Amino acid sequence: MIDHFQNKAKDWDNPMQIELTSKFVNQLRNSIFIYEQDIYAEVGCGTGLVGLSFAEEIKKIYMIDNSPSMINVLKEKLIDSPIADKVEIIENEFEKISLKNISGVINFLSLHHIEDVSSYIKKVKESLKDNGFFAVGDLVNEDGSFHTNNIVPHFGFDLRNLATKLEEEGFIILRETIYDRIYKNDKTYPLFILIAQK
Ligand SMILES: C[S@@+](CC[C@H](N)C(=O)[O-])C[C@H]1O[C@@H](n2cnc3c(N)ncnc32)[C@H](O)[C@@H]1O
Repeated sequence: MIDHFQNKAKDWDNPMQIELTSKFVNQLRNSIFIYEQDIYAEVGCGTGLVGLSFAEEIKKIYMIDNSPSMINVLKEKLIDSPIADKVEIIENEFEKISLKNISGVINFLSLHHIEDVSSYIKKVKESLKDNGFFAVGDLVNEDGSFHTNNIVPHFGFDLRNLATKLEEEGFIILRETIYDRIYKNDKTYPLFILIAQK
């Protein structure tokens, strides 16, 4: 399998990415209750900027990513870390694993890398416990210019269409809004957050 993030992993945790993820985390925190018995799964966790910020407060987090180089950075962060025992790293595609009774599934800037979004939503639902949440942060529809090197299956998403897909699967939408922007190559790319409950 090609590691699309091989050349990016080492420098992934740059000030821009840290600010971007922390804004998403703040948005998510403002919309959910966090309980110490919660078990989360972050899909496309990368180097862990989003998921690690929750680990201390919950029982466990599965951090799932199919890029060995991103996972290696994450593993280095967990060496001698007091939260290491709360984190289970799964180096694989979420589509190929099976989880159950998850309190919350999180995707930040990773859903647009997942080819079959409809099947993915079904799989997220199967992995969630009743009332569990699914939180997505991603790009609003763009013209394809965001990814200059590697081709992705989705050039962002139409927020309402994505919310409708979730509703059709039986999710209740708790929040759907554009909350931030990425400035890149003289262009502006709006970011949305969508939070749904099973
Ligand atoms: C743009 S990065 C975002 C990383 C992290 N969420 C962040 O914001 O710092 C997308 C990540 O999704 C991962 N990814 C893409 N498709 C995946 C899949 N099917 N299952 C698990 N991870 C996936 C990539 O390897 C990459 O690390």
